[in-house]
Amino acid sequence: MNFASDNIVGASAPVLHAILEANAGTMAAYGNDEISQCVKARFNEIFEREVSVFFVTTGTAANALALSSAVPPYGLCVCHREAHVIDDECGAPEFFMHGAKLAGLPGVGAKLKADDVDVYLKSLPKAVKQMPPKALSISQVSEGGLVYGLDELAALGAVCREHGLSFHMDGARFVNALVSLGCTPADMTWRRGVDILSFGATKNGGLMAEAIVVFKPALAEALDYRSKRAGQIISKGRLIAAQFEGYFADGHWLDNARHANRMATLLSDGLLQLPGVRLAWPTQANEVFPIIPKTLDQALKAAGILYHPWTDLSLPEAEHVADHEVLIRLVTSWASREEDVRRLLEVASSGISRHAAE
Ligand SMILES: Cc1ncc(COP(=O)(O)O)c(C=O)c1O
Repeated sequence: MNFASDNIVGASAPVLHAILEANAGTMAAYGNDEISQCVKARFNEIFEREVSVFFVTTGTAANALALSSAVPPYGLCVCHREAHVIDDECGAPEFFMHGAKLAGLPGVGAKLKADDVDVYLKSLPKAVKQMPPKALSISQVSEGGLVYGLDELAALGAVCREHGLSFHMDGARFVNALVSLGCTPADMTWRRGVDILSFGATKNGGLMAEAIVVFKPALAEALDYRSKRAGQIISKGRLIAAQFEGYFADGHWLDNARHANRMATLLSDGLLQLPGVRLAWPTQANEVFPIIPKTLDQALKAAGILYHPWTDLSLPEAEHVADHEVLIRLVTSWASREEDVRRLLEVASSGISRHAAE
């Protein structure tokens, strides 16, 4: 059983069928095909306005290119100190921004608070030797599995406007947040001040389905050149775009995310029943962050269950992980099986009782 991430599964059947359908015959290359154009029009419908869409193959490419369009080489991009862009992309954003820096701020569950960002921005000296802040990047869902509420997004959007920053959202788990909030894509993005979005679909059923969605037209101006320089103008672009046809059809993307989130809730509720287990912070999407006894960690591992230990850097102030405990991350996906979740809970329950009896 593997709860290490939501990219440990393959692509979903509707996505694969859409690729097969798009495979027949000949079509213009480099995204100048009918399928790419149709999918771009579909993005306009989904976001209830005209947007510019650039298909890329990885979330790292989406983030790095999006930020490079928002931040000049002498600029600063503010993010959480555990953000994927600062921690897990091997410096790609800084590389594509040609010298700009990422500044990581703290925040519980890898979420940023508007007030903290505002205080930080106001504390920066305005001198030519100081890199001027040019963008804010947040992850929705956060790296701690938390979802920014609409008011929190609006507050961050307002801080960006006040300080003249572009607002970037890393949406590797965009739809998990969307169904968790039960709002529209427009409400979760440009209506709250988001200027540019990394729209991830790979984790939720895609094969390599990522898109940069631009709401602030100026940020789209050179993105096709930047994409080409990054090797992200895909010659058989129709096969990348086709994934989104299958993904969006009949609400497949929403169903997948609802399932993933439901599995995480089941897991989280079950774990909370066990003595000695608590959550680092609430489960709001498809990731669960329990603090468990090391004995339970050993029992889960002995049963062959895969997951990652997690950093305690973003715990709430009053919380800490004791010497006999460990903080772990369990991730569910569109393909998680309920029987596997229940099996994990059984293993955990008998692991806890066995230890109590010893
Ligand atoms: C928050 C976040 N952003 C972006 C990504 C995308 O990264 P990749 O380049 O692996 O597709 C991930 C994947 O783990 C992620 O968790």
